[in-house]
Amino acid sequence: MPTLPLIVDTDTGSDDAVALLLAAASGLGDIRAVTTVAGNVPLPTATRNALISLHMAGRADIPVHPGCERPMTRPLTTAQHVHGQDGMGDIGLPDPPQAAERRHAVEVLLSAPHRRPGELTLVTLGPLTNLAAALLRDRDLLTRYRHVYCMAGAADLRGNISATAEFNAWADPEAARVVLQAATPDKVTWIGWDVSRTDAVMTPEDQLRLERLGTPLATFAHHINRAVATWARDVTGLAGYDLPDPVAMAVALRPELAVEREQAHVDIALGDETRGQLIIDRRRTAPPPNLTLVRRVSETGFKELLFDTCARPEAHR
Ligand code: RIB
Ligand code: CA
Repeated sequence: MPTLPLIVDTDTGSDDAVALLLAAASGLGDIRAVTTVAGNVPLPTATRNALISLHMAGRADIPVHPGCERPMTRPLTTAQHVHGQDGMGDIGLPDPPQAAERRHAVEVLLSAPHRRPGELTLVTLGPLTNLAAALLRDRDLLTRYRHVYCMAGAADLRGNISATAEFNAWADPEAARVVLQAATPDKVTWIGWDVSRTDAVMTPEDQLRLERLGTPLATFAHHINRAVATWARDVTGLAGYDLPDPVAMAVALRPELAVEREQAHVDIALGDETRGQLIIDRRRTAPPPNLTLVRRVSETGFKELLFDTCARPEAHR
């Protein structure tokens, strides 16, 4: 199967790290560049974690470009209470051997598809600040990618950072609006927290399976999600910790894993009480759809991809 040429934009916390493993080590993805953004953790920490994850995947050669340090108009609010102070479960990971690039993430998002129009797939795993900043300079940017997949929003309005909003949409809703206003459903797909909560929960049995694999990738993926596991137990009440970014990456790598999709006109709330909440217009009089929302993913297919990738031996030792 040909590999998918990818740009990955990430606020690398512990589940972003697993998504990077899927893209870098499954044999399905061909990451051309990683761009980082402030979100789950401050920008320097996100960049460090992206470098560590690629090194673990045996792909320290992939360039990592730091981007925006804060949302477009709001102060940065991180999710270190979820992912750990270091975003990776506070398990004492050593510094990566490789360094980040100097070129800004927004420059990379703008220039990469110009060299290869319609060839690259963009996957965003954090707040949409970098992509929105790029769109302010090139309004047609989304059309230059083959497709853009975003882990963002909660289509069922069950939130994780607030009662009704998902973190990435909530962290920089102005950026999310810029993306939504430029989006078309044939080019842009969002995979929200509703999918993660329903189809990508690592149950105690799944966690045991990961632990028993005993490979460097499986051990890494399991241990870095330690803080999220505690948070999930205390806050979400799910039957384990969920993996929002990996399930979004899985859909980009294998679109057939998405078993339910919806096209709709989607906007985002900016007001204090509803910040980051999706406004999905399903009326017959709604404006034309601007977005494809993935609503369900094959849980079995997603987990097999995860376990198969983690079982591979080619990680850094
Ligand atoms: O909303 C889920 C959060 O965890 C987001 O930041 C997502 O990208 C993941 O990292
Ligand atoms: Ca993320």
